[in-house]
Amino acid sequence: MVVLDGKETSAKIRAELAEQVKALKAEGGKVPHLAAILVGEDGASRTYVNAKVRDCEEVGFGSTLIKLPAETTQEELLKAINKLNNDEDIDGYIVQLPLPKHIDETAVLMAVDPKKDVDGFHPQNVGRMTLGLPTYIPATPMGIVELLRRYEVPTEGKDCVVIGRSHIVGSPMSILLSQHNYPGNCTVTLCHSRTKNLEEICRKADIIVAALGRPGFVTADMVKEGACVIDVGITRVDDATKKSGFRLLGDVDFDAVAPKCSFITPVPGGVGPMTRAALMMNTMKVTELGQA
Ligand code: GUN
Repeated sequence: MVVLDGKETSAKIRAELAEQVKALKAEGGKVPHLAAILVGEDGASRTYVNAKVRDCEEVGFGSTLIKLPAETTQEELLKAINKLNNDEDIDGYIVQLPLPKHIDETAVLMAVDPKKDVDGFHPQNVGRMTLGLPTYIPATPMGIVELLRRYEVPTEGKDCVVIGRSHIVGSPMSILLSQHNYPGNCTVTLCHSRTKNLEEICRKADIIVAALGRPGFVTADMVKEGACVIDVGITRVDDATKKSGFRLLGDVDFDAVAPKCSFITPVPGGVGPMTRAALMMNTMKVTELGQA
C-alpha cells in the first residue's frame, strides 16, 4: 500500500514553480499576480485564503487579498469583480466559496473574466475543460490528477467511482477521469445522494474518489482489495487537544480501509495541499491562457 503524500508532492510543485518564476524574472517577463476575494468571516475560508496567499509568497507570485464584510451586497461584490477584471496588474483571481446566502453564486462566477478565472468555474472554462481544450481546471480535481500522475497510478480502463456531484469537485473529476489521456481513460460512475446500491457500486471500483463531506463514510466493506482510494473530505470537528481547536476528518475510514488499498490519500496531507498546489499551477499558466 502506497500513501499518496500530497504534502510532499505539493512542496515539490511549489519548488518547481519557484524555479520557473526565477527564470521568468531573469527574462524580464511579468510574474503572475493572483488576487483572492473573501466575503465574510467563515473560519475555514479565511484559513484557506491565507494559505493561498502564503503559497504565492513562497512561489514568488504577486498576491492581493481583498476582504469584504459579510453584509457586502451582490452589487458591491460585482463592482469589486469588475475592478479586478479591469486591473491590468492582476492576472488571475478567485472568489472564495461559499458566499453568504444573500449573494447569487452563479451571477458572481459568471461575472469573472474567463481569462482571469484561475478557479476554472466560469461556464466558458467548464465548457473548454469538457471539450479537452486548454483552460484552467478546478483546483481540487486538478490536484488529484497531478497526484495520480506523479505516483504513476494506473488509470487506463479502470472502473472509477466518484461519490459527490459538486461543480467544484465531483462533476469535473468525473469528466477528467473519463477523458482520453493519462490520468484518464477510466470508466466513471458518478454517485450522489439519490444513487441506489452505492456500497455495491463502490465494491466494484478500482478507483474511488470520495467527495461528499461525510466523515468516515467509505468503510472497509465498501472497498475492493487493491483499490486506489482518494479522500477529498475535510470536515472540521472540535478537538480541544489541538492548538487550532479542531481536527480534520476525511470521508474515508482510513485505518480500516488503507490495508486493502494499492494507493490511498491521507487526511490531512493528501488532497488538501494538492488543491493549493493546483491553484498555483493554474496561476503560472495565466500568461499563456490569459491571451487565449
Ligand atoms: N471553496 C472550496 N473549494 C474552493 C475552490 O477550489 N475555490 C474557491 N474559490 N472556493 C472554494
